[in-house]
Amino acid sequence: MGNIVLLDELTINQIAAGEVLDRPANAVKELVENSIDAGSKHITIEIKNGGKELIKVTDDGSGIKKDDLLISFERHATSKIRKVEDLENTYTMGFRGEALASIVAVSKVTMVTKTAEDELGSKVVAESGEVLKVEEVSCNTGTSISVNELFFNTPVRYKFLKQDFTEFRYIREWVEKTAMANLDISFKLINEGKIVFSSNGNGNIHDIVYAIYGKQTEEKIVDVDFKEDDIRITGIVGNTLLADKTRKNQIIFLNKRNIKDKIVENAADQAFNANIGIGKKGFFIINIEMPAGEYDVNVHPTKNEVRFKDESKIYKVVYSALKSSLLSKEFLGDNSQEQLESKINYINNEFGFLTNHFGNKKDNYSEKMKADIELIHRETDRKIEYKFVGILFKTYIIIELDNQMYLIDQHAAHERILYEQIRANYKDNLKNNSQMTLIPELINLTHKEFEFVKENLELFQNIGFELEPFGDNTVKVSGFPDIEYRKKINNREMFLDILDEMTGNAKSNFKTVEERFIATVACKAAVKAGMDLTAEEVDTLIQRLLKLQNPYTCPHGRPTTVKFNKNEILSL
Ligand SMILES: Nc1ncnc2c1ncn2[C@@H]1O[C@H](COP(=O)(O)OP(=O)(O)OP(=O)(O)O)[C@@H](O)[C@H]1O
Ligand SMILES: [Mg+2]
Repeated sequence: MGNIVLLDELTINQIAAGEVLDRPANAVKELVENSIDAGSKHITIEIKNGGKELIKVTDDGSGIKKDDLLISFERHATSKIRKVEDLENTYTMGFRGEALASIVAVSKVTMVTKTAEDELGSKVVAESGEVLKVEEVSCNTGTSISVNELFFNTPVRYKFLKQDFTEFRYIREWVEKTAMANLDISFKLINEGKIVFSSNGNGNIHDIVYAIYGKQTEEKIVDVDFKEDDIRITGIVGNTLLADKTRKNQIIFLNKRNIKDKIVENAADQAFNANIGIGKKGFFIINIEMPAGEYDVNVHPTKNEVRFKDESKIYKVVYSALKSSLLSKEFLGDNSQEQLESKINYINNEFGFLTNHFGNKKDNYSEKMKADIELIHRETDRKIEYKFVGILFKTYIIIELDNQMYLIDQHAAHERILYEQIRANYKDNLKNNSQMTLIPELINLTHKEFEFVKENLELFQNIGFELEPFGDNTVKVSGFPDIEYRKKINNREMFLDILDEMTGNAKSNFKTVEERFIATVACKAAVKAGMDLTAEEVDTLIQRLLKLQNPYTCPHGRPTTVKFNKNEILSL
């Protein structure tokens, strides 16, 4: 890192500065980010009284050169950029040159620091923004900064601090997050003399997730590692059981900086859609690695908001990264090259499906897409060998496969299978996807239902219903979607169930009417819990399910399958 200089007036004015330090966790953040920027491998954070009495951050980074000591406490003094344009290729957490100055202004600071070249280090004592003493000391390479009595000279701010344990909780949450983004740094957090969190810096995110969230969570996550052009996304995503009502378990880093971002959140929602329950938010922790020139962090002094230059690209890559991990979860079936390729095709198809808004399907679904879809279909010819154990409560199919026991929910599984089928047909704009009935059914509807049918005739037709309005509140249905039906399902009842659902006020996850409609048809056409299935029907269901790209949940997010491994059962 170069020398520390004062930024010129123009640059100062171009930088989103002026962040106020309003609680101990902010000071911890600034100090630790400086340690990270200094290339540290070990960072220790010691806290007393929720950080009000003491915050001490010790690192083994580059240290500060003797010449730079005093200027480092000045406002707008930084070694990290010279001009605002430098931000285009700056990857450090800091760049405003104001953190140390604002901490020193409201506390009593002692800094001990030494670079590798120097024999002896220096100790600087400062208070209320003034340097009181500088002396040579012998110490290790790196920097240690103690912040004592934060806000001692700003009583109003001090008064607004919360209880020690609350302030400490903010600190702890921030340190844990930061450790998840900086897997190659070993962090240690000490509260009142006791180590309360540590990470080993071995690069393994599973270890940290285990340490922070526990075993139950760690078992339900899958790795994310996805690259497209110059964007790489790494991290983890949790399965449907980890989904939550809030976004608290959605942690986003951009080049290791924790950010909040609507585009990333929306892309994630889309990827989780049809994989988790209604109204739930998926669990993920990701780091987006991309050239600094592709976004702007100079938006807000806290730097936790950014502006992406190409928003649709970031949307697509985040979506693809999460989706491919959600599908990769080692389920049944294999992960051969062939599987992998067809998975990527599936994701691209689905993405196209979601973003094409169903307008001019013919243009959007090119020949290549068609070929991809065929590939997926061909892949499904292989027969999967499993041992059929039985059916529980006329609802759960039990099978044994590869030392695992699976409980397959017959309704959820069938629903997922039909959903994929209907959607593929819809997407291809398949003609002749109707099964004609011998005698057309005349079905009486409520006024609301009738209006819905009239307004959405095309939707019905695209899915394979042949129907036309037939007088007041009556439709004539002469064909039903040609998807795998169970004879047990009555056509007329199914049709009415679909309308009931579509015209009701139930909460729904689906963004578009089309998507909701497809999911509803799948649900109403699927076998229900409590229906008897023949051995052959069971086998067809299992074979189809196991070959799906996305067999894990029904479109509404209910798991299709629960899996127990042999060891788990033996150790009961
Ligand atoms: N732990 C540290 N190790 C090495 N150098 C440090 C350390 N802490 C601070 N510095 C030096 O002091 C300078 C000022 O730090 P300060 O945090 O005030 O500004 P910054 O990190 O450049 O920008 P920002 O205000 O955005 O954090 C840094 O640019 C860096 O050169
Ligand atoms: Mg800084």
